[in-house]
Amino acid sequence: MLANQKGGVGKTTTAIHLAHGLALAGKRVALFDLDPQGNATVALQGMDPPDGAPPLLDLLVPIEERLWLLPSHGVEAELAAGAKLDVGGLQQLSESLSGLVDYLIVDCPPRMDAWGWAGVQLSDEVVVPVQAEFFSMHGLSQMLASLERAAAAFPGKARLRGVLPVMVDPREAIAIEVLEDLRRNLGTGLLQSMIFRDSALVEAASHGKSAFLHCPWSKGALCYAELTWELMHGRSSIG
Ligand SMILES: Nc1ncnc2c1ncn2[C@@H]1O[C@H](COP(=O)(O)OP(=O)(O)OP(=O)(O)O)[C@@H](O)[C@H]1O
Ligand SMILES: [Mg+2]
Repeated sequence: MLANQKGGVGKTTTAIHLAHGLALAGKRVALFDLDPQGNATVALQGMDPPDGAPPLLDLLVPIEERLWLLPSHGVEAELAAGAKLDVGGLQQLSESLSGLVDYLIVDCPPRMDAWGWAGVQLSDEVVVPVQAEFFSMHGLSQMLASLERAAAAFPGKARLRGVLPVMVDPREAIAIEVLEDLRRNLGTGLLQSMIFRDSALVEAASHGKSAFLHCPWSKGALCYAELTWELMHGRSSIG
């Protein structure tokens, strides 16, 4: 699950690229768009599903080879299958998916409302994207405290997989400072991968595609390929 109560920190961009990255690596992936804003749903509308690919369990629309999307309940479109589901229904759907997919990726809204909590209950592990800027540490400690509460309320769920620095610009002194802070405070709770700031990611979203399709050699695509690798195989021993 991708969660951070702060808005605009790259949750959706990360959810999309992780889901597509895992699918490209041969895994079967379901992406749940639990945000009524429906950004993930809109950002994937230009993808090109294989001809005649059927929906999965009648609710998840095919997006690419091995990748299905549960569209946001907030998007007014034919696609908005999620509208048919309530929070309890999501739990059932995720149980029915076990055996059909290898990974379920959940994109959460920027607050812990009913859908945010539903996301927590569906997720074994949580990745928390955080922007490398001055105020991020404060928001981050609030988010980590919420996660601890969630993990206590739903045993076996919502384990912190790692904090992911996003929109990193290595030319900015503040970014380097914040990264050092994160490393000192989080230790192995900080993922090794980080996502550089790259306008190609914004461009890809505006074309309704992931960067792996729209601009596969962009910095953004390469960063997300590295993140996919880390989440599949763990930390590298170098660095
Ligand atoms: N690494 C990046 N470099 C440049 N722009 C980025 C990067 N990651 C995300 N963006 C852009 O930043 C904006 C916010 O990103 P995104 O929608 O992924 O955040 P979010 O946390 O899901 O937001 P919300 O809280 O509204 O759901 C988008 O326009 C996105 O294209
Ligand atoms: Mg979002």
